[in-house]
Amino acid sequence: MLKNFWYACEFSSAITNKPKQVPLLNQQFVLYRNSQGEVVALLDRCPHRGAALSNGWVENDCIRCPYHGWKFTTDGTCIEIPANQPGVPIPKKARIDTYPVQEKYGFVWLFWGDLPPEECPPLPSFPEVTDSALRSVEIESTCNAHYTRLLENSIDPGHSAFVHAHSFGSGMNQEPRLPDYKVRLEGWGASALLNLKQHKPRGFFWKFTHSKDYLEIKTTNTFYMPNLAIAYIGIPTKLILFVAHVPVDEQTTISKFIQFRSFLTQPWADGIFHKQSLKVCLEDKQVIESQRPRVVPDDLTAELHVPSDALSITYRQLRRKCLDMGWGLTPDISLSDHTNGVRIQV
Ligand code: FES
Ligand SMILES: [Fe+2]
Repeated sequence: MLKNFWYACEFSSAITNKPKQVPLLNQQFVLYRNSQGEVVALLDRCPHRGAALSNGWVENDCIRCPYHGWKFTTDGTCIEIPANQPGVPIPKKARIDTYPVQEKYGFVWLFWGDLPPEECPPLPSFPEVTDSALRSVEIESTCNAHYTRLLENSIDPGHSAFVHAHSFGSGMNQEPRLPDYKVRLEGWGASALLNLKQHKPRGFFWKFTHSKDYLEIKTTNTFYMPNLAIAYIGIPTKLILFVAHVPVDEQTTISKFIQFRSFLTQPWADGIFHKQSLKVCLEDKQVIESQRPRVVPDDLTAELHVPSDALSITYRQLRRKCLDMGWGLTPDISLSDHTNGVRIQV
């Protein structure tokens, strides 16, 4: 896990004026909206006895702990301790850490690091997904795996003919060879354009978009450190898959996808796209949960690479660069209440 990045951690649509717990980087945060509609992010742990504030409620933009009712402002200051007699001062240490957040591209982004956000990599730019003519669906999938393996899977063109042989890769299994491609480095990310030639896959989506049996599809796979991948699938119509692999802890990742489409934009079609995407996630999950070591190796020589792995090699190199800069986070399991994706009930 890496520090000094903005993390897409939750769908914007999931944050309301009701506090919501967001697990990220071995910790729990609580997010809610104030009366201006702005997102507030605090550590989800009351400084009094450690209760989760996300089980509390919002009052005049402040958050009230559900255990003994302490009340905190959006900057984390405690302003009320109900059990105290009048005149008893509030301890100076009665405060909660707060975090910079911003909203963009349908996600809430939380900054985690020890450098000022201005000195760290900025949010990448995805102008394509701001096209208001696009219809989107949100998909969420939890995987018992490290986020680095999920990210690599998102940018790996070589697995589709096998892992997705019964979904969108069904047209590739007779011809799994991939064209050579070039990797374009873009600051803290990289992308690759692939011209894929394949038989038309089975299924509703391809039937609707293509009349020919043999297709040429331009696909651009892109990733940005530390956990974002985006696929632009250039068919006559547009399909964009934007995913944040949210690192919950060393064993658990919640992948949050927003799929944008320029066709079949009627709301009734959302369910079809949602169901198809979930099926693809489950296909990936079966393989990814089996990978060992769980974390993508830091050393490039630890696994084998072929030309179609070029984009994931670039990801490993950039990850190595972050670790060399001292941006790696040491796992602290004492902070986590997740093990193998299951909450520990003590
Ligand atoms: S634990 Fe929050 S007020 Fe006591
Ligand atoms: Fe996949």
